Amino acid sequence: MSKIKIKNKIKSFKKSIIVSGDKSLSIRWVLFASLANGVSKADNLLMSEDVFAAIKVLKKLGIKIDIKNNICKIYGRGIEGFKYKKNITLNAKNSGTLGRLILGLLINAPYPIKLIGDKSLSKRDFKRIADPLSKFGATFKLHKNKGLPLTISGSKKLQSIYYDEKKGSAQCKSAVIFGAMRANGLTLIKARKSRNHTELLCKYLKLPLKVKNKKNYDLIEVKKVKKIKPLNYKIPSDISSSAFFLVLTALTKDSTLLIKNVNINLSRIGIITILKKMGVNIQFENKKNYKGELVADISITSATKLKAINCPKHLNTGAIDEFLIIFLVAAKAHGTSYFKDIGELNQKESPRLKWGAKILNKMGIKTITTDNSIKIFGNPKLKINKKIIIKNYLKDHRVFMTSVIAGLTFGGIWEIHDSDSVKTSFPKFLDIIHDLKK
Ligand code: S3P
Repeated sequence: MSKIKIKNKIKSFKKSIIVSGDKSLSIRWVLFASLANGVSKADNLLMSEDVFAAIKVLKKLGIKIDIKNNICKIYGRGIEGFKYKKNITLNAKNSGTLGRLILGLLINAPYPIKLIGDKSLSKRDFKRIADPLSKFGATFKLHKNKGLPLTISGSKKLQSIYYDEKKGSAQCKSAVIFGAMRANGLTLIKARKSRNHTELLCKYLKLPLKVKNKKNYDLIEVKKVKKIKPLNYKIPSDISSSAFFLVLTALTKDSTLLIKNVNINLSRIGIITILKKMGVNIQFENKKNYKGELVADISITSATKLKAINCPKHLNTGAIDEFLIIFLVAAKAHGTSYFKDIGELNQKESPRLKWGAKILNKMGIKTITTDNSIKIFGNPKLKINKKIIIKNYLKDHRVFMTSVIAGLTFGGIWEIHDSDSVKTSFPKFLDIIHDLKK
């Protein structure tokens, strides 16, 4: 069991950093490349446990993959190129994205396949994805009718479906897009707004997918895919990993930071809108389009006065992975912040709404929490003078990183267990902090 101690606040810094490749894009690239006809190359693929789990799963399905000098090469075998064996078990480890998206690609597997995950993933809801994928014709056996381990049995006679995605889950939407790529006919998805990397990759690859953007939802039409061309890609940096450094800078006196080449897909930048509304000075520089995705450098300076926020609901999905770290900003703001309709947070790697409240309460911040909302009573003068221990949080990488940033910005002595959890999404996190201290 690994743990770290934080004893001092970070001193002011003026730096430029590069954070690791985007996790959602890395996993999607690995999946698309495995289906392409020929070799695809990625530069700056996120080298984290979630992505390694995706690589291992595809190797088990007969796909050759090499990584050398930070370049990953995938030898795709075409849309129907997986080599299936009897009695295989695939391990999605901690990754909801991998666990859910891969199921869309297994709906015509000739033998039953078992899907397992770690303790955290095994507590998560897979019925939300088994239900729509069953409509294509696949069948599922779920542990306690809800989760992992599960067994999927594919079908040779897949039919297209209509799917009304109501949770704003990009994983559910993307898994159904993958399923639709295998089924005859036209699948129609009505999806609440969520991150749209899968659609943008389909568009870039010229696959038969059309999106109509409506105010509160998207209508997505997908037809059976015959061929995918190889995709060379330089994965831009992850806004969700950048988020920890944005908040570190906002909460540290006299500091400025430039984060280079970050994916600022409009469906992912809820944190930027929220921080700006709270009084943080953030700017995008060198904005450009990279293969359908928006990329920019992000510059930020320390905040002088933070305002509480009554966070509009429409910002929730675009900030869904960032709320824990946003809560720290609310802890330092003048007034009471209110975040509503965020029950989905309790469906993440740990029950994050509960963990958010728990961390804040340990810091001495008052909260009122329901299953779906949190009120945070900010205290701009907060100074922590006690010891805080964070443990038994199901190794949720974002609980770990949020606790580190809290220790570095509010003071106190923090003992944070399971530091290896950071390897899930951002193995270089502590190294970058180390560099900022130099
Ligand atoms: C992800 C979608 C989101 C997000 C997760 C990554 C993706 O989950 O929380 O970290 O890559 O599609 P949901 O789709 O369950 O909301």
